Amino acid sequence: MTLEEKVDQLLQLAPAFYEGANSAGQITGPLAGLGITEDNVRRTGSVLGLGGAEEAIAIQEAHLRHNRLNIPLLMMADVIHGYRTIFPVPLALGSSWDLDLAQRTAAIAAKEAAAAGIHVTFSPMADLTRDPRWGRVMESTGEDPWLNGQFARAFVRGYQGSGVAGEPYKIAACIKHFAAYGAAEGGRDYNTVDMSEWMRRAYYMPSYKAALDEGCEMVMTAFNTVDGIPATGNRRLMRDLLRGEWGFDGVLISDWGAVKEMIPHGAAEDERECARKAIEAGVDIEMMSPCYPHHLRELVESGEVDVRLVDEAVMRILKLKRKLGLFEKPHRYADPAAERNILLSEEHLAAAHEAALKSCVLLKNNGVLPLAKAAKIALVGPFAASSDLLGPWSCMGRREEAVTLADGMRAIAGSAAVTVAGCGAERMTDEELAAMLDAARSADVVVLALGEDSEMSGEAGCRANIRLPGRQLELIQRVRELGKPLAVVLFNGRPLDLHGVLDEADALLEAWYPGTRGGAAVAELLYGDANPSGRLTMSFPHSVGQVPVYYNSFNTGRPQSSPDAPVRYESQYLDIPNAPLLPFGYGLSYAEFRYGAAELSAVSLRPGGSLQLTVSVTNAGARQGEETVQLYVRDIAGDTVRPLRELKAFRKVALEPGETKEVRFEVTEEMLRYHHADLSFESDPGGFKIMVGPNSRDVQELSFKLLAG
Ligand code: BGC
Repeated sequence: MTLEEKVDQLLQLAPAFYEGANSAGQITGPLAGLGITEDNVRRTGSVLGLGGAEEAIAIQEAHLRHNRLNIPLLMMADVIHGYRTIFPVPLALGSSWDLDLAQRTAAIAAKEAAAAGIHVTFSPMADLTRDPRWGRVMESTGEDPWLNGQFARAFVRGYQGSGVAGEPYKIAACIKHFAAYGAAEGGRDYNTVDMSEWMRRAYYMPSYKAALDEGCEMVMTAFNTVDGIPATGNRRLMRDLLRGEWGFDGVLISDWGAVKEMIPHGAAEDERECARKAIEAGVDIEMMSPCYPHHLRELVESGEVDVRLVDEAVMRILKLKRKLGLFEKPHRYADPAAERNILLSEEHLAAAHEAALKSCVLLKNNGVLPLAKAAKIALVGPFAASSDLLGPWSCMGRREEAVTLADGMRAIAGSAAVTVAGCGAERMTDEELAAMLDAARSADVVVLALGEDSEMSGEAGCRANIRLPGRQLELIQRVRELGKPLAVVLFNGRPLDLHGVLDEADALLEAWYPGTRGGAAVAELLYGDANPSGRLTMSFPHSVGQVPVYYNSFNTGRPQSSPDAPVRYESQYLDIPNAPLLPFGYGLSYAEFRYGAAELSAVSLRPGGSLQLTVSVTNAGARQGEETVQLYVRDIAGDTVRPLRELKAFRKVALEPGETKEVRFEVTEEMLRYHHADLSFESDPGGFKIMVGPNSRDVQELSFKLLAG
């Protein structure tokens, strides 16, 4: 390869640049003005965001005609929660606490994407999220490092199977955004991230590492700074930690335009410096900015950049192409006929339905749910008949293919039983309000379908005020005044400030953005044809002033001693509680679960041995249901401070009415290891608390001692 050929192999562009493109693709940033020549395009190594099998084949064919060395293009896309069959957003899938389900959704997404010509997905996102103002919390599975790691692994297994070449219709996964993008200050996208290395290692890094341990093929850099240096040009982060310490030898791609963004960050004078810093940090593919093609050749020729850095990057990309089998089969699984059969198949829609059922979280119910099928229902609010249910990052999903809540409810109870009246999420006219109130007046029960337009979350979808937008709180009030039983269903991508919602509603179901089958699944839950089983994986704050609020926080030297009668000079707010409104792990069911007294098999644990914690769970209700039994640990005194609770394990148990099951957890010394101040990862002998319960708040607590080895 000539130096030019090598350098351009490192460039990734959107389809619009290529001969054979039939669309503008999914462009998330500015396209014009890159200063890329046709020769560059003919030598590029990869393309992102294609529009389907036909386009993928046309672009690949044209590319191979022009590319001197016949090196096929790698085709990548954001397949985040489904390709054409759209599953609930990742924060919702997280709420299922169902790793097998997550894996199956990723496998289906991979199958559809592979048939449409995609080789790599920019997923999973494993960013730890503690700030619901950040629009991208919907792309994460929440605030727990261990659980996020479990989900990241499940998604990688689903996309890649036993290896991208081992099974048909598998695609490579790309973990992102490395690193700590979830900690953007103030919850504002692209903003500064700064934290101690200890905090980063202990809380923000484990989920990326878990994905790599699962064999994830690629990593994407984050837009933010890490220790004052943009991640994309951060040698310590990429070369020393990711490549050196963790031994990652796969392809590292920049985020969109992030190489050149080192200039506005104030970390590079010009494109040339950006190119040098990125290649030195170990970035193999430059996504949608032109610093490598414009400057890398000259940097190598002048001796400023060692050509071996370029060679290594090229080799990693070519190896991935070889692994994917592109040299033998450049179109891989791209096939318009197969694509037609595979996309939105019955099986895929059934999985989307199951995922939506399992992702919804019942947050309150005083008995108004499930609805009687004979009841006269007024279904009102912005999401009553809205098809905006797919959520952000459903690039190839089509709203017209989504089942609305109105359709779902009418299919169950009949059209005559459900009167529908809507409005906008942000705009509601007086006439619309009057029509909704009219519908409510003549109903037995009112179902208010509220939420945020999907544009209000996702990338660049941050909000400083996380209450329901527009006049929706007023709508709740006005409906409330009618004195009718009131169930609220929420469609949104973040934990919201629920004041004026939770207290006013008789029942509240968090449906997130539930995907293609969303309305049908939510209707089944409302009518009790299915029983809600989701549990929150991100705390819902009392108000935005409490953010960040998360369950695994530290005690401080002055913990609040009595929440009901605050004592001065303790760590607390004067106006709101310390605890979130709804804690991590929380969720209700139409069944009623009762816990027996938990028991520990011994009061001490020796390294190499194990303890058993057992607890019985009974379904005291009248309906079959599924409980998620959660195990938490607290290390009483550590080398560094330790969180009040850390999730260590969970079990999902299905229980018939009246049935009791014994749930058993094994506790080992490995589970008690943590990052010490010197970043070593080990346990400390001493006292521990162990807690079990239905969520991170309502737990029973036992104690044991870890003995020295
Ligand atoms: C996002 C990434 C995404 C990329 C490609 C960026 O703006 O931050 O998550 O994969 O665009 O579309």
